[in-house]
Amino acid sequence: MSLSHEELSAVEKLRFLLSTRIGYELPNEFRTLMARQARKLSQELSMQSIGELADALKKESEGSQLWIRFVGRMTIGESYFFRNPNHMKTLHKVIFPELLARAQKQPVYIWSAGCARGEEPYTLAIMLRDLDPRAHELPIHIVATDIDAEAMEQAKRATYGEWAFRQTPYSIQRRYFTLENKHLTLHPAITEKVTFVYHHVAVDRDLPAFPPQGFDLILCRNLLMYLREDFRNRAGQVLSKRLAPHGFLIPGQVERIDGAASLVERLFVLGSTIYTRTKDRDWSTRFFEEALERLGAASNNPIFRATSAPGTPVPAPLLAKPPAQATKRLTRSRASDPLPTQTLKPAKVDPPKVERFTELNPRAKAQLDDPLSHLAVSSVYDGIRALLASGKKHEAEAACEELIVQEPLQPNHHCLLALVRLEREDPDGAIEVLRRAVYCDPDNLTAYYLWWLVGVRYWGIAWDRTQWAMRHLSRLVIGLDDHARVPLLSNVTAGDIRYLLHRNWDSFRK
Ligand SMILES: C[S@@+](CC[C@H](N)C(=O)[O-])C[C@H]1O[C@@H](n2cnc3c(N)ncnc32)[C@H](O)[C@@H]1O
Repeated sequence: MSLSHEELSAVEKLRFLLSTRIGYELPNEFRTLMARQARKLSQELSMQSIGELADALKKESEGSQLWIRFVGRMTIGESYFFRNPNHMKTLHKVIFPELLARAQKQPVYIWSAGCARGEEPYTLAIMLRDLDPRAHELPIHIVATDIDAEAMEQAKRATYGEWAFRQTPYSIQRRYFTLENKHLTLHPAITEKVTFVYHHVAVDRDLPAFPPQGFDLILCRNLLMYLREDFRNRAGQVLSKRLAPHGFLIPGQVERIDGAASLVERLFVLGSTIYTRTKDRDWSTRFFEEALERLGAASNNPIFRATSAPGTPVPAPLLAKPPAQATKRLTRSRASDPLPTQTLKPAKVDPPKVERFTELNPRAKAQLDDPLSHLAVSSVYDGIRALLASGKKHEAEAACEELIVQEPLQPNHHCLLALVRLEREDPDGAIEVLRRAVYCDPDNLTAYYLWWLVGVRYWGIAWDRTQWAMRHLSRLVIGLDDHARVPLLSNVTAGDIRYLLHRNWDSFRK
């Protein structure tokens, strides 16, 4: 739906207010969505137009009820349980065993900053409980914060639709949730472990829920990417200040902690980026090396090895093998335990599970039947490519934007728009939408390939990001057949990517 001139200018005012007052920046593609949300809010408040809403916001302070409601409607609260397999693997295998051991001696504090409707902090509580059925008896405190007050109210109710479970093993759904009217509600034994607090990550305040010694683990994922640079830097300082000695800080897969580069160092562990305090450099290097050795990760496998030099490119793992699966321990809990026992199982599909997926999550079932089906190129894409081939670049771009409005979370739509923008010699525009693509799917091979292509073609653009895209590419081609085609780009194969990475790696290291 296109916006009237008046609405467009009101939306621009709202974007300006959001950016200057709370540092939240939404790109152009989100204007239609913003207008829809603002229209709804202004109607609820009996206002005549979005413009009236913008004028009212201008007069009020950010702490006012109006602002709190407005921010709740504008922020992107997309989240789901067990988001990002790399992070889950790192937490499950490396960080949580350490925190459970620490909790035997002292209280352990975990912070989920930007918790949305609670999917992330509850995932952490479930994982801890799954690793150790007595975890709820240990002094482990999970604090979850957000600037979306309505989302946190929903979080406290802890009831979710099927889409929140698109990456959740069925065994977890069965053990920790009860199903009612196609919605799953989390068991109170898990919800009671999480405290929700209203908090802006860049405008820090001392809160009773915040321990003076800092947090042992902080997750601040998929939030920083929306903050204006100065707010992002401030958030980085807050996060590093709140990190306890020997604490771990995990940003989203495509994010980095910019404002605190001198305070924390980066480590690449099991495909995740983890920050620890610079003061803890020796401890953290030792910690990750030992953890990886325990896991049996091949010591010559750079992807799975901790590196203490920030930003050091990881060599292309042409001969790398994935790490050996860690053996899982079956644990028992006491008879009085309200939750069923059994540790987290790998997502193996047994017949009842498939049936249940049909009932609960048809999209997940489709992916189980044919994991590659969602990568199929549709006729709409073919149409856009035809427009491009006949030189109608503006029409192709408009068609992509229309697709994105309809399905903003489909990464391939963003990749296609990036391709069109590349054709239009607009590398900045391409990078802008590739950020969206990897936000929607942090493991999207096409997105990283295109990102890398932009870096190679336009030398100097987002230089560090080109190296970062290479790292992801080299991770994602592991295990792919040489002939496997890159989705959307039928003429590029995984073998081509390996070859190109291999040829270009040295020049990137210089
Ligand atoms: C995209 S969701 C990500 C949720 C979860 N961390 C995840 O990765 O699944 C981002 C959340 O961050 C919240 N948020 C945005 N800016 C924030 C800020 N400055 N302080 C705290 N929360 C913020 C939004 O309201 C939203 O709920």
